Amino acid sequence: MTQENEKRLSIIREALPRFEEPQRIEHTLGVYRECLWMSKVFRLSEEEAYTVCAAALLHDIAKTLPLEKALLLAEKQGKTLKTDVPTVIHQYAGAMLALEEFGRELVNDEMLSAIACHTTGKAGMTMLDKMLFVADFTEAGRKYRSCLEFREYLHSGCEKINKNDKNARLRVLDDVAKRIVGYTITYLTEKGKKIDLAMIEAWNSMV
Ligand SMILES: [Fe+2]
Ligand SMILES: [Fe+2]
Repeated sequence: MTQENEKRLSIIREALPRFEEPQRIEHTLGVYRECLWMSKVFRLSEEEAYTVCAAALLHDIAKTLPLEKALLLAEKQGKTLKTDVPTVIHQYAGAMLALEEFGRELVNDEMLSAIACHTTGKAGMTMLDKMLFVADFTEAGRKYRSCLEFREYLHSGCEKINKNDKNARLRVLDDVAKRIVGYTITYLTEKGKKIDLAMIEAWNSMV
């Protein structure tokens, strides 16, 4: 990463305590480290690496934003929160808050796209969307059995593949993203919880 981009990332990193409690910052930094690892494994360009790492740092900044404030922010930006599932609102509000707080100097549209689908996925996710979506699940701080399994599958899957075969690694990423969507839908169904439409659309676009 260039010094300029390192500097841009540190501006965001240093601002995190304004938005997140220490425990959530731990998770955020875990997602950041997972995305940094992916940026090397998948040989991302400078701009892609910056984008996914900044998206990781920003992805949960609206996690505790009160609904009223999220609604005001959406109105200000001429957008809607697009969901009635409480746990999903922060992905849309997070993208809006990232732009509001950090501006175009630090934030780009690819980042906003990844932040806005990091919980649910969506139909036709880009490579960077999938990386953030997967990293949110496979970061090292997550201790659930399923997280450990998917992390192991992703890391050992990528390590087994020849360094030059980026496409084969991307297939592993696709596969893990699909498994996470499938697992989450099953989990929510078993718990009797709502499933956001974007997640169903993500699943349908992957099978
Ligand atoms: Fe989140
Ligand atoms: Fe997260």
